[in-house]
Amino acid sequence: MRSAKLPVNIKGNPEFWNMQGIIFRQARLADMPAIKKLIRSHPQQLMQVMVPKAKDFFVAASQGKIIGCCALEVYSKRIAEIRSLVVDANFRKQGIATHLINLCLERAAKLKIREVLSITSAVKLFNKQGFSTFHREKFALLRVLRSK
Ligand SMILES: CC(C)(COP(=O)(O)OP(=O)(O)OC[C@H]1O[C@@H](n2cnc3c(N)ncnc32)[C@H](O)[C@@H]1OP(=O)(O)O)[C@@H](O)C(=O)NCCC(=O)NCCS
Repeated sequence: MRSAKLPVNIKGNPEFWNMQGIIFRQARLADMPAIKKLIRSHPQQLMQVMVPKAKDFFVAASQGKIIGCCALEVYSKRIAEIRSLVVDANFRKQGIATHLINLCLERAAKLKIREVLSITSAVKLFNKQGFSTFHREKFALLRVLRSK
């Protein structure tokens, strides 16, 4: 059976959490080189250009090293996108991505955004967080104009 690893809110800050030694917090400008390195290590899954801004990212850190990141890019009052989700291969299957997604969703809820979008290969992971391909009467449609 999976051990329950629930993040604990620390310092009374809703965007600063500790999960068994993993710190979750909002990213700082100084984190961007480490964030970009993580993103660069997954060219197949993650868009390498127009990376979201530091203020949009949450990061997970272990012993001061950034080992995960995820951004909420807000497009309008109506819609935002969860982007650039990656967790270092040595730290997977512990719920780190799940918590990063949840931090983005909490931020979106605080901003009163109605819909959060994800274009992802990690479908099962997002399904578990309530994302689905069908929402009420609407479908999200995508037309690819150029493959690369
Ligand atoms: C996709 C990715 C971000 C997932 O990161 P992660 O931190 O391993 O994700 P989680 O631990 O939250 O969840 C992964 C799985 O572990 C399970 N899990 C979560 N906590 C767990 C725990 N304590 N013990 C065992 N399993 C656990 C989750 O239920 C999930 O199961 P599933 O594979 O059946 O859906 C990571 O694999 C990655 O960086 N991949 C490369 C980049 C990428 O594909 N990004 C997504 C494109 S947007």
